[in-house]
Amino acid sequence: MAIGIGIIGAGGISRAHARGYLQIPDEARIVGVADILEERAQAAAQEWGAEHAFGDYRELLALTEVDAVSVCTYTKAHCEPTVAALQAGKHVIVEKPMAATTAEAHRMVEAQRVSGKILMVGMKWRFMPEIQAAKAFIEAGNLGQIYYAEAIGWQHRGIPGGTFIKKEMAGGGGFMDNGVYTLDAVLHMMGHPKPLTISGTDANIFGHSPDGTWDIDDFSVEDFGTAYVRLEGGTTLFFAHSWAINFPEQWQMRIAGSRGSVEISPFGSEPKLRLSHGGYSDLQDVTPDQLPEGSIDIGYEIKQFVQAIRNAQPSPIPGDTFLYTNVIFDGIYQSSRLGREVPVSLP
Ligand SMILES: NC(=O)c1ccc[n+]([C@@H]2O[C@H](COP(=O)([O-])OP(=O)(O)OC[C@H]3O[C@@H](n4cnc5c(N)ncnc54)[C@H](O)[C@@H]3O)[C@@H](O)[C@H]2O)c1
Repeated sequence: MAIGIGIIGAGGISRAHARGYLQIPDEARIVGVADILEERAQAAAQEWGAEHAFGDYRELLALTEVDAVSVCTYTKAHCEPTVAALQAGKHVIVEKPMAATTAEAHRMVEAQRVSGKILMVGMKWRFMPEIQAAKAFIEAGNLGQIYYAEAIGWQHRGIPGGTFIKKEMAGGGGFMDNGVYTLDAVLHMMGHPKPLTISGTDANIFGHSPDGTWDIDDFSVEDFGTAYVRLEGGTTLFFAHSWAINFPEQWQMRIAGSRGSVEISPFGSEPKLRLSHGGYSDLQDVTPDQLPEGSIDIGYEIKQFVQAIRNAQPSPIPGDTFLYTNVIFDGIYQSSRLGREVPVSLP
């Protein structure tokens, strides 16, 4: 029997979730939609063939035929519906970034632990074949002692509008929106080493540009930031992200070890994946026989969520693996405000 799905938040990304469920009608069916803008929930429910539409997600959670929910609200509104859904005994897939702050992320992880239900974060890059291949290469010991990692996302021009530029809704700017992809990817590939100290900056360089397409009076988040993070085990991480910078577009994730390296350039013309292994004088490029199966399509991610529920499997992308991304974001904001390196305190 198809599992019953509720969708909370009927904005832009909810459409990709809905498409994902509609592609697997034998496995999942959308029962209801909730949005604080009730007419938006009604229109979406009608379009997706769902019986129920609500202005308050708690009414959706009260439906026994809802087994699982997609939380597609803006980031500052991820925590409350996720916790409430887990407490109501529903499985949850929540959009990235998991939460706006470490405290919120911690509450979500705790609610999952108590409920025993699946909490999956919709971090589609975890299914990117190149990231999976690089992670497997690292896990096989090919890098020796890892000592440096880089997560860079220089978006040349990419300032969005809407809810993304309002701190009270998005929780943050470029870090929360797209920085989280590269940051999560390098932490994930390295097996989530604990952050110890953070020295960071965040800034608003272009947010108030009069020639932009967004409302400058609404702009209250960072459009640029960098961080130097000391990780447990002696690795240093350089993290940098912009929504706009006067450099050409450049996205790059690199990890260096004493015996090799991995490099992923997810966009652009150069090879997406580079693996190397060897010594000082005999370092060789390594070409994997074939890349693992996977896709960054949200339909693929939704399928993994539904199959994990149906087969009583663990979360394909567990919530507790996202605590450190929030810890690092909190640390960057704090360090930037104080103008110095800050120690990390974990919940
Ligand atoms: N995975 C991806 O590729 C991807 C792409 C875009 C956005 N996102 C993430 O998805 C989330 C939402 O982004 P979006 O572009 O859909 O934003 P959006 O502003 O278009 O939609 C958010 C919706 O949530 C509703 N909402 C807010 N609080 C609510 C609440 N308490 N109960 C019910 N509804 C509520 C809003 O009314 C709005 O309709 C963000 O966290 C963003 O980072 C992910």
